[in-house]
This record gives sequence, C-alpha cells and structure tokens, in this order.
Amino acid sequence: MILVTGGAGFIGSNFVIDWLANNDEPVVNLDKLTYAGNINNLISVKSDERHIFINGDINNSSLVTELLAKYQPRAIINFAAESHVDRSISGPEAFIKTNILGSFHLLECSKEYWHSIPSEQQSAFRFLHISTDEVYGSLDADAPAFTEEHSYKPNSPYSASKASSDHLVRAYHETYGLPVLTTNCSNNYGPFQFPEKLIPLIISNALAHKALPIYGDGLQIRDWLYVSDHCSAIRAVLEQGKSGEVYNIGGLNEKTNIEIVHTLCDTLNELSPISENNDIENYRELITFVEDRPGHDRRYAINAYKLESELNWRPSETFETGIHKTVEWYLQNADWVKQVVNGEYRKWIKRQYA
Ligand code: NAD
Ligand code: TYD
Repeated sequence: MILVTGGAGFIGSNFVIDWLANNDEPVVNLDKLTYAGNINNLISVKSDERHIFINGDINNSSLVTELLAKYQPRAIINFAAESHVDRSISGPEAFIKTNILGSFHLLECSKEYWHSIPSEQQSAFRFLHISTDEVYGSLDADAPAFTEEHSYKPNSPYSASKASSDHLVRAYHETYGLPVLTTNCSNNYGPFQFPEKLIPLIISNALAHKALPIYGDGLQIRDWLYVSDHCSAIRAVLEQGKSGEVYNIGGLNEKTNIEIVHTLCDTLNELSPISENNDIENYRELITFVEDRPGHDRRYAINAYKLESELNWRPSETFETGIHKTVEWYLQNADWVKQVVNGEYRKWIKRQYA
C-alpha cells in the first residue's frame, strides 16, 4: 500500500480518488483537516475498504512512526502543505510549521522506517515530495520556461517554505540515501479546489454576482494544468521516476490572469446564463481591479520535456476542455461550495479584500 499525506485537500483528494479508480492498492491517507482539508471531498470513496483515513498532523512523529510500522507502505506521497500565497503573506508561521518542519519530521520518520525494512523493499521504496514551480521565482516575459536545472529564487513565504522542503528532501537522498522523488508542478485547477484560489474564487463570486477581484494589472502569467493530469504525472513519476531525480510538471498553457477571468465569465455566460431583468447582463461586468499582491510573481512557465521524453507523460486535457469540466463541476456541486464557504472562509475574504 501507499501512504498519502494531505489527501483531503484539493490535489490530494483528486489523487486518492484517481488512485483507487486506477489501482487495487490500498491508500492510507493522513490529513490534519485544516480549513483547506475537507473529508467530504472523499465521499465517493467513503465505503471503499482500500481507503484508510487518519486525521492527524505530519508533525506528529509518534503517529507517523506508528502508521508506517502498521501499514508498511511501499511509498509515501507528501501533498500536505499550507498552499495559499496570500495567506502566507498575512500569516507565514503555519507555512513554516507544516511545509518546513512537517516535511522534516516526515522525512525523519521515513528514514527510520526505511532503515527498518528488508533490503529488497528498501530499494523499491519511494518518498515522493509534491512541490511547486513557484520555488523557481518569477520569469521575465521572454525568458525560457523553467527546467529542472533552474536556480531556486522563491519570493513569497509560501514558495520559500516549499523551496526549503525541497532542499531537505534532496539532502535526505544525498546524505542518507533515502530514495526520493520531487515533482515541481505549475498551477492546478479542477474539482474540489478551495474557493480562495483564483479559478474557484472567480466562479463562486460570479455565481453570487459579487466583484471578481483582479490583482494589479491582471497581466501576470501562470501555466495551468487540469488536476487529473497532475495526478497521472505523479503516478508516472512514482512508477518510473529515477530515485533522487526532480521532474517538472506543466500543461503548456500560459495565460494571463485577465484571460483566465474572461474565459471563466464567457463559459459561465454559456453554461449558466444570467436571466433577464437582473442587476447584470454579462459576468464580465463584475470584473474589478484591486490592489496588487506584495511581491507578486509576474510569470511562471514549465518546461516538462524531461517528464514527456523520459516517462512518456502528456496531459490529456486542453485548457478549453479542462475549464469547461471545472465550471460544470462547480455548477453541479453548489452544495459543496456552500458547505466550504463557512464562517472562517467569510472572515478570510473580508480581511483579504477589505
Ligand atoms: P490544499 O491546501 O488544498 O490541501 C492541503 C491539505 O494538506 C489539506 O487537506 C490540509 O488539511 C492538509 N494539511 C495541511 N497541513 C497539514 C499537516 N500539518 N499535517 C497533515 N495534513 C496537513 O493544497 P493543494 O492545492 O491540494 O496542494 C497540495 C500540494 O501540492 C501542496 O504541497 C502544494 O504545495 C502542491 N502544489 C499545489 C499546486 C496548486 O496549484 N494547488 C501546484 C503545484 C504544487
Ligand atoms: P492563486 O490561485 O492564488 O495561485 P498562485 O498565487 O499560487 O499562482 O493566484 C493565481 C493568480 O491569480 C496569481 O497571479 C494571483 C492572481 N489572483 C488575482 O488576481 N485575484 C485573486 O483574488 C486571487 C486569489 C488571485
């Protein structure tokens, strides 16, 4: 079996659901259920005996040691993190605790466990660390996309904490021989993404006829990947990746934020048209330019050539099909949105966009 951390969050829950649909192998899912973790994301696998959910912290070394001894996983996939850049600006401490210290504690427990298993299991074991392209910093408009060789220049407390964890993972391989893999992926979107991130925030605000906040001039560029394509890339890296290696994952979909918001408004105009005699006729009327994010990275772009050429991975979704599926999912899952848009969420939105 495999052990996944952070499997009740956006990417982790998509990964667990995809994994159980593609494999017979059980999954132990360790998640602290922070504001971003939601057990209801896993409702479709609730009665699946191959899924074992544990509510706990990756910093809890005695719990992690106990789980490793009990379930003897052949791999650990570390999704658990604080993941929102804006929250890292207003409150960086949680990012240090989970992303840096949590990864460190998980690595320590993994190393001890790895030492304890028979040698043929040791060579097959993998610690797969899920990271982000944000560790590389910001690209100029005409600069080539990030390769795995790009230097680290993180600019936000979030990306600095992820960069720190990437370095620890590398060090555990170089120093102790732990068989690790690291993936650095671009921006994801799709089902179950918490509506504090750009795409679900815009969909959820638009449907409530609230302002659609665009930071600065809206010309910042991100490279967008549909979440199930990220999951298939992680499976490919887990099965075929070379121990100690880093793999960049991206969708070859560089878009400005304003393009994203226009596409979302147009897709909503088509799939959920505004009825006559309303306060607005077109969702685009809600677009509102607001103060820029401090230290806002201008551009990220991923060169995924290594993953494509060595592991034969390609994304299945285009940006158009992925966005269409995402908007449809949010329209069909209004109850999910209602449930996550709770008191804590409302307080965050009020503080952030005051
Ligand atoms: P998320 O915020 O939606 O989910 C994070 C999950 O981790 C939540 O379920 C939360 O409860 C859990 N968690 C947080 N702290 C924990 C702790 N101390 N112990 C155990 N569980 C804890 O994040 P996401 O968007 O799903 O991102 C998952 C991973 O992918 C992160 O490591 C992130 O850095 C990375 N990543 C995200 C993106 C993206 O676009 N979302 C892109 C590239 C990489
Ligand atoms: P986000 O989804 O927070 O991801 P990240 O910062 O990790 O890339 O933001 C994506 C882009 O959208 C980023 O350039 C910031 C911008 N953005 C807005 O313009 N308005 C918003 O309300 C949010 C949340 C993000």
